[in-house]
Amino acid sequence: MIVLKSAHNSIVFQIVNKRLSIFHWGALLSENQIGTELALATTRPVSHSHWDTPTTADVMREHSKGFIGHPTLEGHRDGKAWSTYFELVEESHTSDSLQATFVDDHAKLSMKLHYSLSHDGVLTMNAVLTNNGDADYVLNKFIQWLPLADQATQVMDFTGRWSHERHPQRRDIAYGLTTREEREGRSSHDYTIAQLALASNATFASGEVWSMSVAFSGNSIHHVEKTQFGDQSIGAGELFLPGEIILKAGESFSIAPVQASYTSAGIDGISHNFHSTLRKRVHHPTNIRPRPLTLNVWEAVYFNHDIEKIKALADVAAEIGVERMVLDDGWFHLRRNDRAGLGDWVIDPTVWPNGFTEIIEYVNARGIEFGLWFEGEMVQIDSDLYRAHPEWILHEGNRIPPLQRNQLVLDLTHPGAYEHVLEQVDHVLSSFKIAYIKWDHNRILNDAGHLGQAAVHNQTLAIYRLFDELKRRHPGLEIESCASGGARIDLGMVEHVDRFWTSDNNDALERQTIQRWTSLVIPPEMLGTHIGPTHGHQTGKTTEISFRAINALFGHAGIEWDVTEASTDERAILKSWASLYKAKRSLLHSGRSVRIDYPDSHAFFYGVIAQDQSEGLFAYMQHLMPSSNFAPKLRFTGLDAGTNYRVAISQEVGAPRTLQIKDIQWGKGVILSGAALETIGIQPPTLAPENGILITVEKV
Ligand code: GLA
Repeated sequence: MIVLKSAHNSIVFQIVNKRLSIFHWGALLSENQIGTELALATTRPVSHSHWDTPTTADVMREHSKGFIGHPTLEGHRDGKAWSTYFELVEESHTSDSLQATFVDDHAKLSMKLHYSLSHDGVLTMNAVLTNNGDADYVLNKFIQWLPLADQATQVMDFTGRWSHERHPQRRDIAYGLTTREEREGRSSHDYTIAQLALASNATFASGEVWSMSVAFSGNSIHHVEKTQFGDQSIGAGELFLPGEIILKAGESFSIAPVQASYTSAGIDGISHNFHSTLRKRVHHPTNIRPRPLTLNVWEAVYFNHDIEKIKALADVAAEIGVERMVLDDGWFHLRRNDRAGLGDWVIDPTVWPNGFTEIIEYVNARGIEFGLWFEGEMVQIDSDLYRAHPEWILHEGNRIPPLQRNQLVLDLTHPGAYEHVLEQVDHVLSSFKIAYIKWDHNRILNDAGHLGQAAVHNQTLAIYRLFDELKRRHPGLEIESCASGGARIDLGMVEHVDRFWTSDNNDALERQTIQRWTSLVIPPEMLGTHIGPTHGHQTGKTTEISFRAINALFGHAGIEWDVTEASTDERAILKSWASLYKAKRSLLHSGRSVRIDYPDSHAFFYGVIAQDQSEGLFAYMQHLMPSSNFAPKLRFTGLDAGTNYRVAISQEVGAPRTLQIKDIQWGKGVILSGAALETIGIQPPTLAPENGILITVEKV
């Protein structure tokens, strides 16, 4: 047996008769626990009406070997090579990686699988398929599968739509195939971000959880399967459109990576595994510099770009302590509304007669960096680009795909279109001091063909290439991935950008659920979380500034509000909140995210604890009317039981509205041990709906 080990979990492979199977994926096992005795103890009987030899969880799930569930590979060569029988011909491994090569001489295919387990327990699975035949091989589907232990009885995934991303659904695993598919050509608002399998008792803090995600920003499939034999497994892969992937004779194809993780430390354990793994990357944004407090002007001005207004915003931003200001949509040729301009990435002289130099200098003089919005994968019929190259859109036959937000998708797999975008964007970035770009993607790809063949896969690779090339040409450039809010947040894009726009919905209550679940695998420092206006533009609701400020703190914080209209009191709160963010960002962006299993479903209680358990910052957020007069006590998990902590309510975010005559007694500070905080907890105030408190926890 071959054991790959991380700090807390292991995956055990077995090779029998030139077949590679997975014996165990779960809790940490050491080599001396694994051996013939264990194999003997777990070997199945031969049951009535089944194969004469016991079956194993092969990585290449094939009908030819007796596997009758969903296969690993599906494809054919003009109707032939439809059934494969891969044999392992080569294998090499270390303690955290395994490479295996399989060949099927009859189907004339070979397959290289690569598994690599990070120290913190994220398994990355890569595969390369080669066509050794002399005719084209059509790849229909490739799913990476991992077996699930019997105690995984539930599945949880995430669904969403515009301004309502990543809402969980948890259900029992039933017999058959559970499927989540995305066909938008981008990961989508509805993308599950991770599919979880869970023991029924798994909570945020404890219990066994297995996760799997397609690490790619195009179409995707996530499955859980339970067969009539009781075998259950979790699988994921890119969704290929008909004929999208055809391997010519001798050609190889790299399959989009899939990432998986196991923990016995509850749903938060999965977050811990991903956050820690991503934070170890050299290019992880916090390894380069602290996350600057951002102001995006979109909801303050929309398309009405006026230099005096932008300067006024910069003045207030400077007073608050903002460090980066982003000029959103509306600056380029013809772009006075959303009906024209996409495709022409040149500054519109009617709006910016002297280019950006004046505004950038003005902003920089106030100690603020300048950022700019693009949507380079798009084109509009009313644009110079479309007039010159109507053929540069993703399309099929003579059809023009239905418009969405009056726009079409530029075919970046066309070298001319790719060069056009690259050079225009590069020119703007080379001409001005621009530290940061927000890159949007505001429509679904449908009928997305290139010269008669489906092109979502290649379009996705093209945008990765373009981002990487822009970063190569402009060292230090940061890119934010936006797609009508959070429609392109995934573990593929995370390798090419520095930040995600989590959602277009800036209503702090709505953001609570969206942020909670987007940070399941993406570290909070990569998620844009802004204080929206007092009267929310998406929901039309009025929300207290303290609730909005606390919500925006747990991410890469910013403001998306016409702050020139903020009152003196509101500006004072924004100022103290900004200083608090700067003081706490190293904790917020390196600590362990903790979501507490709070007994009242009308409130969220969550926080971040320093890795050395010396401090923490927590939010108690009352969403709806408290279910009882006195809310359940706040029991903190993740602190050190033997350490004493001073716990207090932070005053820097303004006061909440309460439903009480006399306040709780500990607000100014109380000293309790980690054990008392975990077992007994502290009494929160009784808050009105959509109000919250920010709690500081410091070792004394
Ligand atoms: C999308 C984005 C917004 C904003 C607009 C501009 O909707 O999600 O944040 O940039 O486009 O048109």
